[in-house]
Amino acid sequence: MRPDAAGGLAAVWWDGGLRLVDQTRLPEAYQVLAPTTLEAVAEAIERLRVRGAPAIGIAAAFGLVTALDEVGGTDGPAAEARLEAAAARLRRTRPTAVNLFWALDRVLAEVAARPAGETVRAAALAGAGRLWAEERERCRRIGEAGAPLLAGSRGVLTHCNAGALGTSGYGTATAPLYRLREQGRPVPVFVDETRPLLQGARLTAWELDRAGIPVTVVVDGAAATVMRRGLVDAVIVGADRITARGDVANKIGTYGLAVLARAHGIPFYVAAPRSTFDLARETGEEIVVEERPREDVASCGGRRTVPEGVAVRNWAFDVTPAEYVTAFITDGGVIRPPFPEALRAWAG
Ligand code: MRU
Repeated sequence: MRPDAAGGLAAVWWDGGLRLVDQTRLPEAYQVLAPTTLEAVAEAIERLRVRGAPAIGIAAAFGLVTALDEVGGTDGPAAEARLEAAAARLRRTRPTAVNLFWALDRVLAEVAARPAGETVRAAALAGAGRLWAEERERCRRIGEAGAPLLAGSRGVLTHCNAGALGTSGYGTATAPLYRLREQGRPVPVFVDETRPLLQGARLTAWELDRAGIPVTVVVDGAAATVMRRGLVDAVIVGADRITARGDVANKIGTYGLAVLARAHGIPFYVAAPRSTFDLARETGEEIVVEERPREDVASCGGRRTVPEGVAVRNWAFDVTPAEYVTAFITDGGVIRPPFPEALRAWAG
């Protein structure tokens, strides 16, 4: 299950134990972490060492096995109880990305339905490994579906990191871009810095650049100028949760980009695998939007940037109403409005 060049960059994998690229260290350092306790896995998710909706789900799935290994649990009621407790802890790490809950539910269900003779640990590891492989395959299909929409573009704008680092393999929003690069038709990419944690500047720019895709970083406030100057023909972003009517939770600032895209007559695409669709929720109002620490906004590069005592709100995500989405690019193909019917037909 090691990452390799052919399979694209991996953010998370299993190599006798969980392995994570510490995304808080990029781009200065590429460092692989090997957490050996449940708390270390939970901390890695909470601190965004591993981040991006599908990658969080995969890390949590393998984290269940880490939790068993920590206590030497292999089989029987004690191992099952440990798994349940580990899942409960991991569910409390981040609230918005549905992939986390989906991945944990799926591995627990597979463990419960394991064939006679298979241990709890073997079933959990096999389930997490399958999920990892499937998510990579879903990303490849997103690339196939999305490449024709973006081929020949003057440029494309993306936000945050919905790339290999947020999933493994092709990523989601980046999948069509990697696919076009493979076909020898690379499309120039503009990426917002993505304040406050700079996933666009630090992560998307790093991974696209190392893949040979021309990438330019702009400050978040420059998105309108990029569009006005005619530098991009489309916006493409990932998602953390998509509801039955097609409302999209994604990194804060996504909603603004969708409004700007509409104002400039540019299509706004959302790329996501099946694991990001939460059809149990009807509208974006039902999505819990994570708020993160004040310090992320109130300081920059180790210096205070907001006066002591001044209020800060640090929403990590926003919700873009379905009306602004031109199409979803999924592992099941391109899905266009009317969304409730089209999404139910595909993912229901
Ligand atoms: O807070 P983050 O960095 O986990 O937020 C990530 C995003 O918003 C991504 O766009 C989304 O999870 C899709 S990752 C393929």
